[in-house]
Amino acid sequence: MMMLVRLNMRMALAALCGGVLLVTLYWSRCGDLAHRPIGSVLSYASPDRATNEIECSINGEYSVACRRDLDQIYVPFSFLHKYFEIYGKLTFVDGTEKFEWSHSYSKVYHPKKKYDPRGTFTTFENYNVEVRDRVKCISGIEGVPVSTQWEPRGYFYPTQIAQFGLAHYSKNITEPPPRVKIIDDGDKFLEKWIVSQDAVLTREFDSELKSNVLRFSTSDQASSQVWLKVNISQDFVLSMDLQLRPNSSMTVILQNKDKKETVYLHYVTSTQLIYAQEDHTYYGIGVDKKWRRITRDLIIDMQKGWALQDRPKRKSPRNKFKISGIILSGSGGVSDIRVSSSSHTAHFHAAARWLRAAQRARGGWPVPARRRVAPGVPDLRPGWHSAMSQGHGISVLCRAYYRSGDAGYLRAAQRALLLLDVPSGAGGVKALWMDKYVWYEEYPTQPPLFVLNGFIYTLLGLYDLHVMEGENSVSLAKKMFDDGMLSLKTLLPLFDTGSGSFYDLRHFTLGVSPNIARWDYHATHVNQLYLLAGLDPDPILINTAKRWEGYMQGKRAAHN
Ligand SMILES: *[C@@H]1O[C@H](CO)[C@@H](O)[C@H](O)[C@H]1NC(C)=O
Ligand SMILES: *[C@@H]1O[C@H](CO)[C@@H](O)[C@H](O)[C@H]1NC(C)=O
Ligand SMILES: *[C@@H]1O[C@H](CO)[C@@H](O)[C@H](O)[C@H]1NC(C)=O
Repeated sequence: MMMLVRLNMRMALAALCGGVLLVTLYWSRCGDLAHRPIGSVLSYASPDRATNEIECSINGEYSVACRRDLDQIYVPFSFLHKYFEIYGKLTFVDGTEKFEWSHSYSKVYHPKKKYDPRGTFTTFENYNVEVRDRVKCISGIEGVPVSTQWEPRGYFYPTQIAQFGLAHYSKNITEPPPRVKIIDDGDKFLEKWIVSQDAVLTREFDSELKSNVLRFSTSDQASSQVWLKVNISQDFVLSMDLQLRPNSSMTVILQNKDKKETVYLHYVTSTQLIYAQEDHTYYGIGVDKKWRRITRDLIIDMQKGWALQDRPKRKSPRNKFKISGIILSGSGGVSDIRVSSSSHTAHFHAAARWLRAAQRARGGWPVPARRRVAPGVPDLRPGWHSAMSQGHGISVLCRAYYRSGDAGYLRAAQRALLLLDVPSGAGGVKALWMDKYVWYEEYPTQPPLFVLNGFIYTLLGLYDLHVMEGENSVSLAKKMFDDGMLSLKTLLPLFDTGSGSFYDLRHFTLGVSPNIARWDYHATHVNQLYLLAGLDPDPILINTAKRWEGYMQGKRAAHN
């Protein structure tokens, strides 16, 4: 039976796609088809074809309702989807309906030029870290994501913060310059603010900012406010210099253009991360009385407030909302208020500043959440380190050094190397394969797991630092990179399943069933290998990349 299914798969598909209209309707939602009883699909068989239902026994274990047309057997795609983990969707090309079958759901990016540590970081211009569900919000004080992965209360996950930084750095390079609208800069652009009776608003020169600023002060009455009416659509990244005295706030009003709905985003003098109640979301921006520049993606801030209240996600709020006002209350100052389509540089620098400030004496960024990695290995206890955080951190700091010229960033990157040389058992991240080949562990478990993608990201961090230090220098980073590349080229064949790749080598070190990389991780492996093939001419890199890319189109290693 299986043989027949395999042999006739292509024909079966053609027939199923073209022949039975109602079936194809179901197929357009392949994902939930997997959960539908197969029979319900087949009951729509067209009456004029001489096709009959036939029971298809799958390896003698269970049955699937199939159809027979003479000596041809037709198997429902919903079954093939589940059985082979393949994907299909209906498309319309020039008015003709077509069913597209694909072996994987991921995409490989072929690098257009040699990887450059000053340029985009791999394919990270495609990442949108802040929209991920596991990002609770962007913190008001540091301006970096707070993760809820592995710890629902939320914590700073150095890998995620670095990815946020690298994504924005990369987008800054690949995207066109942002549209910027200056609202009030105290100089050329002056808005007419509305000041309630018992409130005060003045414009004065501030010696610290060396520019004109707005100084405001309101009374304790709720009605006492200083506010500005605006009407801004399309762009939602708000930035301003802000100085708030205790118990003061800056509130942004967003309005839904079609529905009569108003959302308030309050930026308040508090150290509480986020708090949301109905249409009001509060972000603590700290209690520091000094000037600070805040840069907020208002749409992200609004959505995280909704998510906190378990409200359903909405489609494209960017097209539906507008900024309609800014309210100041309490007392303080504001200056240089702008709205732009993006502010990648500000987000990148926030990540770099966080990494520099949060780095510990041993050069590490401890992860403050318990991590259950694999059955059979002890959990990583809060305070563990990740070679991937270290590598990504180095990649961010190198780029911050390149952009700013501030040598403090370079020194922080160099400090981050130290932990890569500390064994996992001693609080570091280093493992050895067969006592010989060094491996920088994304998850420094004992026994080690040899996770592939995190290791390669660490190698990229080492390469970045090596280049930033001057390519002719004989440095620690260079030595660690070379050692790691030797390990990679030696162990790479062990990650090859013949039809995909392994995520790690737990089947060797734990003696358990192997952990096959799902397609997005497999695609990451392929992207990483293409990138490294541009840095190292050893044919194993390019050959493995090509073979592994082939696996994504259903190619397999030959069998005997
Ligand atoms: C990238 O950063 C540079 C320097 O800050 C800036 O001039 C440019 O507009 C930015 N472009 C984007 C897309 O962020
Ligand atoms: C806001 O601006 C849009 C155009 O961007 C305009 O159509 C609309 O009438 C304006 N609304 C108000 C209240 O001024
Ligand atoms: C801030 O507000 C709280 C409660 O409204 C009050 O107890 C506190 O004294 C205020 N702090 C200052 C510095 O005004």
